[in-house]
Amino acid sequence: MTTRVWTVRLESTSYTIALEPGGRWLDLVAWGPHGIEDGPSPLANSGGVPGLTDADAAPVEYSPRGLRPFSGADLIIGPVGGPHESWWAFEGQDEGEGLRLAFRDEVTGLRAVLCYAAVPGTDVLRRWVEITNGGPDVLEIERLGSAGFCVPTGTSGARLTYLTGQWCQEFQRRELVLPAGRLSLDSRFGIPGLTYVPWLAVQDAGVPDGPAWGVSLAWSGSWQIDADIEPSGITRIRAGRLPFPGPLRLEPGGRMSTPEVVLASSVDGIGGLAKAWHDYDRVLAGDRRGPRKVLYNSWEATSWAVNGDRQLELARLAAEVGAELFVVDDGWFTGRDDDTGGLGDWEPAPEKFAGGFGAFVDQVRSLGLDFGLWIEPESVSPKSRLFAEHPDWVYHLEGRPSTLIRNQLLLDVGREDVFEFLRDMLSRMLKDYPISYLKWDINRPATERGRPGWPAADLDAEHVRNYHRLLDHVRTEFPHVTLEACGGGGARTDLATVARADVLWPSDNTAPLDRLTIQEGFLLAHAPHLLSSWVTDAPGMFDPRPRSLKFRFVTAMAGVLGIGADLSTWSAERRLEAAEYVALYKEIRDVIQHGEVDQLAGPREPTCAVQYAWKDTVVVLAWSTGVLDGTPHVAGRPTRVHLRGLDAAASYVDRSGARYSGAHLTHAGLPLAWSAEHDADVVILGR
Ligand code: DGJ
Repeated sequence: MTTRVWTVRLESTSYTIALEPGGRWLDLVAWGPHGIEDGPSPLANSGGVPGLTDADAAPVEYSPRGLRPFSGADLIIGPVGGPHESWWAFEGQDEGEGLRLAFRDEVTGLRAVLCYAAVPGTDVLRRWVEITNGGPDVLEIERLGSAGFCVPTGTSGARLTYLTGQWCQEFQRRELVLPAGRLSLDSRFGIPGLTYVPWLAVQDAGVPDGPAWGVSLAWSGSWQIDADIEPSGITRIRAGRLPFPGPLRLEPGGRMSTPEVVLASSVDGIGGLAKAWHDYDRVLAGDRRGPRKVLYNSWEATSWAVNGDRQLELARLAAEVGAELFVVDDGWFTGRDDDTGGLGDWEPAPEKFAGGFGAFVDQVRSLGLDFGLWIEPESVSPKSRLFAEHPDWVYHLEGRPSTLIRNQLLLDVGREDVFEFLRDMLSRMLKDYPISYLKWDINRPATERGRPGWPAADLDAEHVRNYHRLLDHVRTEFPHVTLEACGGGGARTDLATVARADVLWPSDNTAPLDRLTIQEGFLLAHAPHLLSSWVTDAPGMFDPRPRSLKFRFVTAMAGVLGIGADLSTWSAERRLEAAEYVALYKEIRDVIQHGEVDQLAGPREPTCAVQYAWKDTVVVLAWSTGVLDGTPHVAGRPTRVHLRGLDAAASYVDRSGARYSGAHLTHAGLPLAWSAEHDADVVILGR
């Protein structure tokens, strides 16, 4: 067979693959800046394969176990009760979206189409796999990757950057140099989860600040990403959904499509890779890119003690400081006085809104504010009317007790009747009240994943599909409603959610220094128009050093500004100061929300700074995160942060009239003088 080669051309990079001479699999030939494919492949194995099969040592794109038995396969499939090993050969190129290369296993009748599609205007490559069971037996699937890819990391091994954490500590950036072995990230939660973000970046450990290659998953259920640092000097990434709790089944004649994973690379390292992810988030946002409004959310001020008069007091103060949107969080519906009741009964609690909920909403809107509500559609409280009427609507295993997490159960959203109930409830609510913002939360993972009478159902995929259908329903039927995705903090920040939600809630931790660390990680994976951030009075859990009001505002300005503090405890002077920050944010929010982001220095450095560049404006947000330098008591010089991507010869002027050349800002840096009182700054530079 003659070698066949395909190149997918992206904006500034290309991805080239070739069929191996035996036609059994595809090899990655080269992936990097345009033209990288002209020359011998940096990934091809030029040695022998003692103790291995050829495929085990090759830069294989996607392989079933059988073909690649030892080094890690992307698909583990076989007849029920039979070997879960399969082998296939290239069948041909299919018509359809993108590049579609089909392989067939003659023994089982399995057909797999490996799909590649460029995202126009970006360096992002979408990949997924479509499988068909063309044989007589039911096939069982243990592993169902969406894609594999290889990086020539050399003999030093790989530098792996990933985002990990727990509740109130999401998106912590971690780097690991792994000379050999495997890093395995996953979620068995039925949601992407708080532990890891479904995202990974890979670099050659031997090339500090070198190019980066990355993967991000568009899947809102359980998932896995493995990075295998192979002894021959390549790193192979396998990514996709995690068939959990058990294997999946594919009936004869059945078809299945994996979720998409997206790949990107950048010669500018992790920061360059982040820009590719931001570009993709913007493509996904389409014409819903904003600008996002300044929000007030009452959760931290009132928690479940929602009461119309108190909410109105907060709404008045929020309007006074310049908020444009008022969101009532958890606690507005019947039976919801704490976390033990109410979920499922989505009717406003009459005793909490004396004049009626509709009148309350009108009063909020008469202040010039849009109105928004929190909701957690997928959950149900055991004390609710909904649970009493439909006890069979929750996940459960026959004869097993149901595990409560946060005193609640999870609806089996994959059931059509549950889907219809939720769709109709959402429609009714959005028709009955002029709601223009929905914060969609989920505060527990799935346990006892069963649906008695339906042993073969793919519950994870069915839940995800209907969660997506519900979001799509809101987007199509109520396009004026902005959707915020939340997962008891940041447990739902996958790209399939990003394709349907306008804003993401990254964490319940709103303390200033803690939040900076969370936002640093967030901005590696997602664009600032998705980063919801509130100014509150919360003390830090992990870094409790007090910080000024300005510090808190500048932190929340790094994405979509919100306020969550109890404004009734703030003095008139404090509210006036807050109003100035809100007004400033409104001036620069286009630059922040749509600009090109460079994280100049992280929160572990004495000065943390993020640069946003849009059209002719550059905004630098900076925070004093470490100890002061002792000036003016001792000799010293202002801290400097080095800006990026400026025109060296151009002149940039800040609001005080100070003028700098691009070369100065890049090489000498932007001066920032910190004191105990002055611990954050917004520098706006016009060209
Ligand atoms: C978890 C969210 O992350 C919080 O912001 C808040 O909405 C609570 N749920 C309400 O129960």
